[in-house]
Amino acid sequence: MCGIVGCTGSTPVKDVLVNGLKRLEYRGYDSAGVAIQEPDGLKVVHRVGKVAGLESELAYHGELNGTCGIGHTRWATHGRPSTANAHPHTSCDGRIAVVHNGIIENFAELRERLQERGHRFSSETDTEVLAHLVEEAYEQHPGDLLTAMRTSLQHVIGAYGVAVVCADEPGVIVCARKDSPIVVGRGADASYVASDIIALIDATRDVVVLEDGQLARLTPDGIAYFDERGRQIEPCVTHVDWDVDLAEKGGYPDFMLKEIHEQPRVVRDTLAGRMVGGELSIDELGLSYEELNLIDRVYVIACGTSYHAGLIAKNLIERWARIPTEVEVASEFRYRNPIITPSTLVVAVSQSGETADTLAAIRDARIKGAKVFGITNVVGSPVARESDGVIYTKANKEIAVASTKSFLGQVVSLTLLALLLAQTKGKLTTAQVRLLFRELGDTAEQIEGILQDATAIDEAAVACKDAASALFVGRGIGSAICYEGALKLKEISYLHAEAYAAGEMKHGPIALIDDGFPVIAVATQSPVYDKLVSNLKECEARGALIVAIATEGDEEIKKVAQHVIYIPKVRDCFTPITASVPLQLFARSIALLRGCDVDQPRNLAKSVTVE
Ligand code: M6R
Repeated sequence: MCGIVGCTGSTPVKDVLVNGLKRLEYRGYDSAGVAIQEPDGLKVVHRVGKVAGLESELAYHGELNGTCGIGHTRWATHGRPSTANAHPHTSCDGRIAVVHNGIIENFAELRERLQERGHRFSSETDTEVLAHLVEEAYEQHPGDLLTAMRTSLQHVIGAYGVAVVCADEPGVIVCARKDSPIVVGRGADASYVASDIIALIDATRDVVVLEDGQLARLTPDGIAYFDERGRQIEPCVTHVDWDVDLAEKGGYPDFMLKEIHEQPRVVRDTLAGRMVGGELSIDELGLSYEELNLIDRVYVIACGTSYHAGLIAKNLIERWARIPTEVEVASEFRYRNPIITPSTLVVAVSQSGETADTLAAIRDARIKGAKVFGITNVVGSPVARESDGVIYTKANKEIAVASTKSFLGQVVSLTLLALLLAQTKGKLTTAQVRLLFRELGDTAEQIEGILQDATAIDEAAVACKDAASALFVGRGIGSAICYEGALKLKEISYLHAEAYAAGEMKHGPIALIDDGFPVIAVATQSPVYDKLVSNLKECEARGALIVAIATEGDEEIKKVAQHVIYIPKVRDCFTPITASVPLQLFARSIALLRGCDVDQPRNLAKSVTVE
């Protein structure tokens, strides 16, 4: 997603900025830009498209010899991908330039007030308010960009990693952080800032990762650090001994693990800005209240992991909004002449946004008169372009072929959609929606807890690694989670796995079970917990090796399961978000024990653009 670089030294920085942005390309972005301090003011060049395009454009701007500047790669959130929306953003007088990662939740309110005071805006972004806020603050604190920035941020609600330069302070970059990473480092003869260590690694191995609320002031001669009250502080320096490959993975041994660990952020980013004045809001849907209220049937169409997110959506939409919902693999939907009327809503879910079957299904649904919402991770992708409205999951670019964080982004986005439909239809009160929204947000912290200790997961993986096959079982929403758990295991470890609604076991699959056959159960607290335990007892009686994902404090489950992986207590409807995480880790652990490449499993591609 978005990336920041900045450098101030004694030699021209243009190439340093471009090379730093190239290092951040793997994160995914739609536009890029730089602001360089030149003798006659700030030179800002930004454009939609790749960094290579920016590099060519910079060549047309003649000699740029400035020795201080900032750069950015943008992944659109507020405002479409366009040159006007690309960072850096500048103040009215063009003397201040800002690059920003994160979301300013109160930007609409700030923008309105700034406009009333005469500021003119040239983009649709939330970020631009920062440039104007700093401009005003700089008038109060001339020659003190640090204070101008610090006091401006006091007006901001939301997340930011931010860097700013001012034409009136040559050689100075100020940066700050809240809930979005900023890393600062001192090279041989220059000071650097970035949103990711990978962009600094050629210049320095000793970095300071700013903590929330902290700021740094960079000059060619050094870096000073400050807390949110402006008091100078001693930073905590970290020595990075990763190679470039490891740095791209953020220090994790593989992308899959890195992406699993990004999931708390994905939850937070997906929810940011969605509760406006106490009401749930998804503006991008592009449907009026009346149109939403008319919907009487929902189809979720998708493939693979995205289809499993759809299974969870069906449970939630029917539970809360009471709208009949079908989930169908796109490859079947497109050839089946489904019943579609003008009041049918089709929700197309695709991480890549370019899966051939899903696209064909979208086209077919629109021809038949349905409204189509896309849920995708890729801005401007075919699914986004061909849908009537689109919700972007905030997963950032996913590199491992096996979807993890994008699945979670899809589940959270679909949960929001289910809540919105229920709110519109009056099936849930505003108070109920708010409560559920708050608990949905709490899952971010709960996932952090799960990620802290994988010991029980790894022990269960060791016990199951040599099996020829495994069954994943659950009931209710737990069975939907099992389909994804089984897919994760088979696609990266090549261990055959199937998922079943546990009540179906005795109608066939139980014949598979003999001594040591792995049965992985989503056995969290739910209205059907007792039923599930009875099904597990039937497996136990036939010698199954039972691994249970269970709710913290459940001692009973130990009577039936040999391995218990505890997760925090959440409302049943949010179990997909928390219980999926140990299943992802379980699959990865088994894959590694079996010597598999977890990031690039055999025979699979990240985007399936052929039928
Ligand atoms: O990009 P999409 O979400 O449309 O892709 C659909 C499937 O190909 C994808 O989810 C696939 O199943 C993944 N490998 C799962 O990890």
